[in-house]
Amino acid sequence: MSIPVRILVGTTTGNTQYVAEEAHYNLVQGGADAAILQMDELDAAALEPSAIHLFCVSTYGYGDVPANAKKLYESLVKERPDLSAMSYGLISLGDSSHAQTYCFGGRRFDQILKKLGARRIGEVLEHDASSGVMPEEAAAAWVGPWYDAVTALHAVSA
Ligand SMILES: Cc1cc2nc3c(=O)[nH]c(=O)nc-3n(C[C@H](O)[C@H](O)[C@H](O)COP(=O)(O)O)c2cc1C
Repeated sequence: MSIPVRILVGTTTGNTQYVAEEAHYNLVQGGADAAILQMDELDAAALEPSAIHLFCVSTYGYGDVPANAKKLYESLVKERPDLSAMSYGLISLGDSSHAQTYCFGGRRFDQILKKLGARRIGEVLEHDASSGVMPEEAAAAWVGPWYDAVTALHAVSA
């Protein structure tokens, strides 16, 4: 049985949307039951512990989460739900020219999710807009091994 993967998108100018679509395509090709959700109207109550969440988040302002991710991020910080039954992956977009706040949007999510007890599967994919690599190419290379790790852990805990 495939594990549902909910891909949550926090973006300002759309790079992260392309990343999410590429991840979605690869996950579905690999047999996953995956869906893309915009973070816009989501809050902490919208997270489903039984699903795997793949957070795809860029960085804006001075190390902030994108405007459409604020409601979800702030609700996690304020409501502090117990997420100890939840697993997640993370793709974080930023630009190393913002040296002091590189990829802070995704790092903020990583920190709060860990604090709330969620278990991260795999390493974070941090994409640097100054690297010359297209973010969706980086995501396509990362997501297959990430989903292998998800299914391996699920097989162990099933
Ligand atoms: C106004 C502005 C502020 C930004 N601030 C940061 C930042 O503080 N840290 C960072 O790592 N990247 C920062 N970035 C880079 C974006 O996160 C990066 O270009 C990313 O690919 C954008 O993804 P999106 O189109 O999905 O929003 C900033 C970009 C802009 C235009």
